[in-house]
Amino acid sequence: MLAGKRILLVIAGGIAAYKVLELIRRLKERGAGVVPILTPAAEEFVTPLTVGALAGEPVHRDLFDLTRESDIGHIRLSRDADLLVVAPATADLIARMASGFANDLATTALLATDKPVLIAPAMNPRMWDHPATRRNMARLVEDGVMVVGPGVGEMAERGEAGTGRMAEPMEILAAIEAAFSGEPALIGGPKPLSGRRMIITSGPTHEPIDPVRYLANRSSGRQGHAIAAAAARAGAEVTLVSGPVTIPDPAGVSVVPVESAADMLAAVEAALPADIAVMAAAVADWRVASASEKKLKKQASGAPPMLELVENPDILASIGRHHTLRPRLVVGFAAETNDLIENARSKLERKGADLIVANDVSPETGVMGGGDNTVRLVSAAGVEDWPKLSKDEVANRLVARIAELLPAPDGEGA
Ligand SMILES: Cc1cc2nc3c(=O)[nH]c(=O)nc-3n(C[C@H](O)[C@H](O)[C@H](O)COP(=O)(O)O)c2cc1C
Repeated sequence: MLAGKRILLVIAGGIAAYKVLELIRRLKERGAGVVPILTPAAEEFVTPLTVGALAGEPVHRDLFDLTRESDIGHIRLSRDADLLVVAPATADLIARMASGFANDLATTALLATDKPVLIAPAMNPRMWDHPATRRNMARLVEDGVMVVGPGVGEMAERGEAGTGRMAEPMEILAAIEAAFSGEPALIGGPKPLSGRRMIITSGPTHEPIDPVRYLANRSSGRQGHAIAAAAARAGAEVTLVSGPVTIPDPAGVSVVPVESAADMLAAVEAALPADIAVMAAAVADWRVASASEKKLKKQASGAPPMLELVENPDILASIGRHHTLRPRLVVGFAAETNDLIENARSKLERKGADLIVANDVSPETGVMGGGDNTVRLVSAAGVEDWPKLSKDEVANRLVARIAELLPAPDGEGA
């Protein structure tokens, strides 16, 4: 979702500036371009050298350096960005933004932009609670500025606690993803899955043949990981049980890495109870009956080893038919190359799922490992066709649908 996006990152002068180094790494890992602006006060906390090295871009510090260029530098910086992020947003910078100041490079770029702006405030709790800061924040929110945090916790100052701690880098990352996913309302507004626990599986499983070889499939984990990220943005407390993948962990979720189907089932069961389970992993149907403890060697006779396969545990059915801890909503995936709907319907029934997300994974569709997905939702109510969407869009829609379908917990609602 962030690949190719350009983020103008304004770092202001607060203690939390050091945490922004981690944010830059996470953004770069996801393929985003990060163009840093440091206020003079920020340079007291982090060096331009470190910020520039992590961002892989020169750090912009001085309004008048930029205006020596042939075009107007601060305008170009704002124009070239897809999103402006201020982290940490100090009380001082928030006040200057709210008043429309343009008295340094940071505020000038922020005033000269028509792009979305996200701020991560960070300050002492008394500064945060001060009526002046309350007023300034209300004004910025009214102006359409998106806000992530601050959180409650211990401050850098000894003995200080309260609201004012900057959101953690992964929370800021999740808010940045939300800003790009067309659901910025989720950053500050009500979150439909707040307070819900969700278990999501993703990726392939690796079934050992011997210590160096395994049986696997082509799943990349992109769809399951996108669902985990979307669920976290919607406020769910997400445990992502992931088979071996090469993509980064989604922001704001707790990841349990596993290898085999047996490991995955154990990790899913350990994560119960949950309100929702989304089983998106491509779990191997079979494993080698007895994996060799030593690497198998070629035989002098030329005879290849005979591998006996046995069926793996059915994770979706174990959860969908769980006697005591069945989640209120169980969603399965059916990756098929033929008879998609028929197979999905039978899976719904056999495995005790509420919803099956069926997708055609024939090689010509490019779904396995690709960026797009064409899915059909199969439930007792019928079949719903979704158009071809990016895996991120499928994730957002699915999470919105889950929030609609989720029955209220006992004792909640009418
Ligand atoms: C050690 C130290 C820590 C500070 N931490 C913060 C902070 O966390 N939040 C904040 O709003 N101001 C903090 N300040 C005050 C700002 O650095 C000061 O208001 C500065 O003018 C901000 O400039 P800027 O907004 O242009 O970066 C701190 C100052 C010092 C000396």
